[in-house]
Amino acid sequence: MLTLGIETSCDETGLALVRDGELVAERLASQEDVHAVFGGVVPELASREHLRLLPYLLDELFKGAGVNVPDVDLVATARGPGLLGSLLVGMGLAKGLALATNTPLVGVNHLWAHLLAPGLEQELIFPAMGVLVSGGHTHIYLMHSATEIELLGQTIDDAAGEAFDKVAKLLNLPYPGGRHIDELASRGTPDKLLFPRPYLNNQNLDFSFSGLKTAVAVYLNDHPELRQARMEAPAPEQNSSALQQELFDVCASFNWAVAATLHAKTERALKRQESVRALVVAGGVAANSHIRRTMQDLADSYDLPLILPSPELCTDNASMVAFAGELLYRAGWCHGLDLEAVPRGRKIPWDYQQVSSG
Ligand code: KG4
Ligand code: ZN
Repeated sequence: MLTLGIETSCDETGLALVRDGELVAERLASQEDVHAVFGGVVPELASREHLRLLPYLLDELFKGAGVNVPDVDLVATARGPGLLGSLLVGMGLAKGLALATNTPLVGVNHLWAHLLAPGLEQELIFPAMGVLVSGGHTHIYLMHSATEIELLGQTIDDAAGEAFDKVAKLLNLPYPGGRHIDELASRGTPDKLLFPRPYLNNQNLDFSFSGLKTAVAVYLNDHPELRQARMEAPAPEQNSSALQQELFDVCASFNWAVAATLHAKTERALKRQESVRALVVAGGVAANSHIRRTMQDLADSYDLPLILPSPELCTDNASMVAFAGELLYRAGWCHGLDLEAVPRGRKIPWDYQQVSSG
């Protein structure tokens, strides 16, 4: 079975072909340069870029893989959550292809696609505890199976990735700043008392990162010299000045606080669900080197395998959409051409149709 995956929920334009659970080919065009100067994604520009790029990427993908449109058995598209205008561009392509070639269509929850993405590289194990840390979401799920994924907790304000990006912005680092903070933090030593591990003094599995971001903002107000004079990616330095070392340490302290908070809430969730057989950590922030090590330690201490996508598979891509779409379809679920895009903030409905056996 050959599945075409389409990802346009934010600022990455992605297309991929997956055959029977294996990646065949993919194309990914990042719009980072378009949005970097604005310090965040400009929705209008993102939609236009998706519209401009998709025809070229589709042509390249098919030619590169030696595949023709009629070879595709299933069209899978990210249907939300995301930027509505951006989602609609990908969905327009998906519906057009499905209609023209009479191919089944399946809409994929972008967040579930992140959680299932490691299945492209290793066997998935269920039930699993799934931690989804991205630019827009910080969710803890109980993953009963690839198609039964139960939300246990979520952020009540900023997502972990949003906190990384906002702190990066305060330091005048380019958007999206998570990976720059990661890079700077890896050269520093965390002061574990500098910033709070937020929202742990309760019994729930929810997160709140806005207070941590404010704590960093207050600190930087008192230390404006840490802010970069020019907005540019940090250069790999051989010898660092005392000021640079202070910047590395501040980034390490912030990164540590995020990782320690994720560790604490995930551990709380694991204690409550003794039946889980694996820990999955996915989404863009799962590319963070310190968070990867922290979650590995947690999984080890519970004697659970850690299922972690390689860093390229953590951030938005279409391979994960194709893969999740194939799993849904194989489980008997698809959509009609009335499939709707769901913007961020609205719950994704379970509105699948049963795949007809005929
Ligand atoms: O999953 P993703 O690509 O897009 C969304 O669905 O949101 O996640 C993007 C987020 C951004 O906030 C970005 O700064 C963050 O992931 N990110 C990182 C790293 N790489 C990407 N955050 C921390 N460390 C990284 N290495
Ligand atoms: Zn994402």
